Amino acid sequence: MGAERGATGEGPHLPARRKRVFSGIQPSGSFHIGNYLGAIRNWVDQQAAYDNVFCIVDLHALSLPTTREGLSGNILHLANVLLASGIDPEQSILFVQSDVREHTELCWLLNSVTQFGDLRRMTQFKDKAGGKDEQVSAALFVYPVLQAADILLYDTDLVPVGEDQKQHIELTRDVAARFNARYGETFVLPAPDIKPQGARIMSLDDPTKKMSKSDPSANATVALTDTPDTIRKKIRRAVTDSGSDVIAGPDKPALTNLLSIFALFADLTVPEVETRYAGKGYGAFKADLAELVVERLAPIQERLAELEADPAVAARLLAEGAERARLRAAAKMDEVRDRVGVGGGRS
Ligand code: TYM
Repeated sequence: MGAERGATGEGPHLPARRKRVFSGIQPSGSFHIGNYLGAIRNWVDQQAAYDNVFCIVDLHALSLPTTREGLSGNILHLANVLLASGIDPEQSILFVQSDVREHTELCWLLNSVTQFGDLRRMTQFKDKAGGKDEQVSAALFVYPVLQAADILLYDTDLVPVGEDQKQHIELTRDVAARFNARYGETFVLPAPDIKPQGARIMSLDDPTKKMSKSDPSANATVALTDTPDTIRKKIRRAVTDSGSDVIAGPDKPALTNLLSIFALFADLTVPEVETRYAGKGYGAFKADLAELVVERLAPIQERLAELEADPAVAARLLAEGAERARLRAAAKMDEVRDRVGVGGGRS
């Protein structure tokens, strides 16, 4: 234990360091209950137990077309959404990726130990490229390498994410292992932290597709900023399965999704929710689900309105977060450059 890298204690008699958590979210589209239940809420719930770094990954957002105004507005909005959801800057470093230049530098070095074939297998690339491989940006292709750089720069042990990021974390481990084999032990191999419930919230329109920020249909998602009436309308219109029993199962993808949203927001298990709605039918269940979501999002929306009234608060917190992240990233990059033999140190 005492030999663990970055131990907070000076000697073996002091407690081992807290596990390091890193996660990121793109400032694109509107943030929805899938992002919240699959990622943000877990970051908040676990933040007292870990040493946390949370990153607004603006450079990743550039992999698809963006505008200057859209991007900068979304960065501050996302910072406020995260703060309103309970990210506490006292307990967690919160910063914007492009404020810490080491991310792009490490990305390049990691590109050199990443195989083209590995990137071509990434399902997110295939989904986002939508068969138009010849026209999408090269950034979309190397996207997972920048993600690996984000994670490896902070000696991360755990990466709390939704299911869709699992393959990227596996690639991160492969890249780290390949770098370590070539240059000597440098990077910690991170583990994904994917919860059994909520890691894949599906579209309300089509329960075979995941709920996605970029879904063109507004009815597919419940945004964290939706008004109570919009939330009620979207849940009332949500697709259901044939039959009338409120039960989950492989042949009931829509109900399974709605039940898991209910269970997560109510802090119950899915069977407990099924029991509560036995014999009651879809109408009553959906009406209660809508009220539950409205009630759970209300305090977040209230805090968000307060934070958005004074954008200087988030701007200051992000600047402080970048300062703290930079210290860690700079120290790690000194070590990495030295291993690779770039950036000075030619003695
Ligand atoms: P992003 O911005 O698409 O999503 C942010 C987080 O939300 C989760 N998520 C979901 N969880 C459950 N159900 C859904 N329907 C759903 N949709 C999204 C995602 O899994 C994610 O945890 N590549 C990442 C950003 C990133 C990152 C990183 C993550 C960049 N660097 C380093 C972790 C570590 C992404 O696009 O997330």
